[in-house]
Amino acid sequence: MKEQIVKIVEKYAKYKIDKNLNLPYHDGVVYPQPEDGKKYLLYLHIPFCKVFCPYCSFHKYSFNEQKAREYFKMLRKEIRLAKEKGFDFASVYIGGGTPTILPDELAKTIDLVRELFDIKELSCEADPDISDELIELLKDRVDRLSVGIQSLDDERLKQTKRCEKFGTANEQIENIKKLIKNFKIVNCDLIFNFPDQTKEDILDDIRKLKELSPPQISMYPLMYSPSVKSDIEKNMGKIANTKEFELYQVILEELSDGYVQNSCWAFSKQGISLIDEYVVDHIEYLGLGSGAFGFIKDTLYINTFALDEYKKKVESGLLSTQRHKIYSQKEILNYRLMVDMFGLDFSIEKLLKKYGKEAKQKLFFELFLLKLFKITDKNYKLTTFGKYIFLVLMKEFYIGMDLVRETSRQGIDRFGLIIK
Ligand SMILES: C[S@@+](CC[C@H](N)C(=O)[O-])C[C@H]1O[C@@H](n2cnc3c(N)ncnc32)[C@H](O)[C@@H]1O
Ligand code: SF4
Repeated sequence: MKEQIVKIVEKYAKYKIDKNLNLPYHDGVVYPQPEDGKKYLLYLHIPFCKVFCPYCSFHKYSFNEQKAREYFKMLRKEIRLAKEKGFDFASVYIGGGTPTILPDELAKTIDLVRELFDIKELSCEADPDISDELIELLKDRVDRLSVGIQSLDDERLKQTKRCEKFGTANEQIENIKKLIKNFKIVNCDLIFNFPDQTKEDILDDIRKLKELSPPQISMYPLMYSPSVKSDIEKNMGKIANTKEFELYQVILEELSDGYVQNSCWAFSKQGISLIDEYVVDHIEYLGLGSGAFGFIKDTLYINTFALDEYKKKVESGLLSTQRHKIYSQKEILNYRLMVDMFGLDFSIEKLLKKYGKEAKQKLFFELFLLKLFKITDKNYKLTTFGKYIFLVLMKEFYIGMDLVRETSRQGIDRFGLIIK
């Protein structure tokens, strides 16, 4: 029965996501004027990596120092444009690609953001290529550093092409120790459900990480978007989804000792909570940088993926938005139900407070199904199976976002230039 429910949920999510993430292109798409006094989350995207990992479908280009320096400069200009437009921010999330690829440029960009806005929390992604210079430059500028580890097994690191880039598991462990000593909050990402991964393998990864005691751990299920599926299978073996729930239960059990669960895939030490998944904690956010996403009022905005077009737009005084889609109130309610459930933060009281009395009526069918299939208890708290269902939904949502990336990249070459 559970297997059937998972299959139906996957099919339903794929159908909805296909329908809702099919975005048109429009010249002259612009963000609306911000609401007076409102503080949004600011997302900044850094689309460069030195070597690509076979499983990853995030927006990135091959690193070239000169290009990346020019990009950071344009990004700072775009941040100033957002300020001139009247946007205000209290939280920042910097993602990639690899935001830490040029620590000095990143530090300069953070300084600008902090100078223009009263920032309370700043979270930044990093890869395990950690230098002393990086630590010195970023330890007091970044509140939460989220570092991609993926696995602490040397064979797995070789399989994912990360061993040659970032060193063996033991070398990475030494880097994580340094980070934990220097940064306020360090999050470590692990990926589970690699094709040949067993329960013992994932337990081994988690236990090695727990010995280091990072304040936060994120456990991502392997997301096999169509664009990376063949690369994953070539490097790691045939993808089968049959053990994902089993592995997830092992993870919940292992992390219940020492960690509190903050969302379906994020865990932290008691009392520590700082931006895990910014789309969960923030209803509205502005995305700056090539390929960044933003959501304001009822509209999703996507910035241009082409680096030459990005430069052109910003140089001419425009934010870099290129595609958008407006959603109905029902679609927004469905989306909020998904992210609030995923963030373990759903209650009827909150729903009514945020979206008004009619919200419960509008979600009547969805809420009925959640209870019927024992995804939640009668108070809408997720069961273990329910947590897995929302992990699957969020995974499908991320895979769906990859569809947006795929279509946005059409007509752009591998250097980020529009093909004439
Ligand atoms: C976009 S990366 C940025 C971090 C940094 N570049 C690194 O690789 O260490 C953020 C995280 O996304 C996760 N990720 C990327 N591709 C994924 C996939 N196909 N399935 C699951 N997680 C993935 C990884 O855990 C990674 O650490
Ligand atoms: S996982 Fe990180 S380093 Fe690897 S390709 Fe993706 S963004 Fe780049």
